[in-house]
Amino acid sequence: MKSDFFKYQAQTTPHPLAMEISHASGSYIYDTKNKAYLDFVAGVSACPLGHNHPKVVNAIKSQLDAYLHVMVYGEYIQKPAVELAKLLANNLPSPLEKTYLTNSGTEAIEGALKLAKRATGRSEVIAAHKAYHGNTIGSMSVMGFEERKQAYRPLLPDVHFITFNSEPDLEHITTKTACVILETIQGGAGFIEPQKSYLKKVRNRCDAVGALLILDEIQPGIGRTGKLFGFEHYNCIPDILVTGKGLGGGMPIGAFTASGKLMDLLQDNPKLGHITTFGGHPVIAASALATLQEITESNLMQQALEKEKLIRKLLIHPLIKEIRGKGLMLAIITPSEDITNSLILKCQEEGLILFWLLFEPKAVRITPPLTITNEEITKGCSIIIEILNTIQN
Ligand SMILES: Cc1ncc(COP(=O)(O)O)c(C=O)c1O
Repeated sequence: MKSDFFKYQAQTTPHPLAMEISHASGSYIYDTKNKAYLDFVAGVSACPLGHNHPKVVNAIKSQLDAYLHVMVYGEYIQKPAVELAKLLANNLPSPLEKTYLTNSGTEAIEGALKLAKRATGRSEVIAAHKAYHGNTIGSMSVMGFEERKQAYRPLLPDVHFITFNSEPDLEHITTKTACVILETIQGGAGFIEPQKSYLKKVRNRCDAVGALLILDEIQPGIGRTGKLFGFEHYNCIPDILVTGKGLGGGMPIGAFTASGKLMDLLQDNPKLGHITTFGGHPVIAASALATLQEITESNLMQQALEKEKLIRKLLIHPLIKEIRGKGLMLAIITPSEDITNSLILKCQEEGLILFWLLFEPKAVRITPPLTITNEEITKGCSIIIEILNTIQN
């Protein structure tokens, strides 16, 4: 299997982890030798209820028995997609009420950028340095990391970058700006939170110049930071909210949500302003609906903040310089890239899954399922401390 993996499946790095998966359940992934790995990554924040949560699996199975794909997006009334969009609206502040479902986060970003251009009639997009919004051409154009995108130029024109958390930079948002796109908490940059009133100030500046504010909650959204959406911590409501990853409960999804007035612009003049064959797929939507129901009806979000406290209490070590982030979106910062690499690789040998962040080489990702137990957290953190001890000595 391993040689076929390298021969036939396209690789994304020269050195993939190449763990061969047998099955997964709860907070554990099992390889084909039946070794159990405690998962502190949750498919890069995409499995908030852990692996194969029974409510999610049952929702998928019942939908499999009813119907699969029946029509391109938006033409037929399909209960899982309608109920999912309604549940999102019921959990969002006004004016966010109408949702467009896509197959991935990056597609939702593309839709959001198009909607902002359509609504304002302007072309300029302002994004942040070290931002990550996905890998299709539009999303890559608003990626704030030249090293990863220079090989793919030319990208979208009229994209400009500001520094996240810099208030003087807000002056660059003007009456020429169609939209400002920001991650509510910068992920790839190293889990950088907005300073206290930063997002509110961005909101005010956008209002003053007639630009739209897009917040990318693909990673912090769906309960990971202790609230359903990260923006709820920062007193700032976007014009367009983009979600994905955890929303699918382990299935591929993206979504962008705006007011009905804004979203309706995509349906006419010209019609078919944004189309997709499989977006809103009934099986995916059923999985997402079950996931969102569980997260909004349980106390998992509140527990995420308690679990954060436990992790911060357990992860005290001279090689941990800082722990960034909120809730169960945390990153350990070590003194060097080498230490980060050793920690991640050695923990995997010891049966604990950790991972890197895109643009911060000293960061170690800790984004476990929200369902992780305190015992599992304690076990995983003790492996991290043991490995750091061996690295230190
Ligand atoms: C903040 C953010 N935006 C967008 C994306 C892209 O989502 P997808 O990989 O589903 O296209 C990601 C994925 O890592 C992300 O973390």
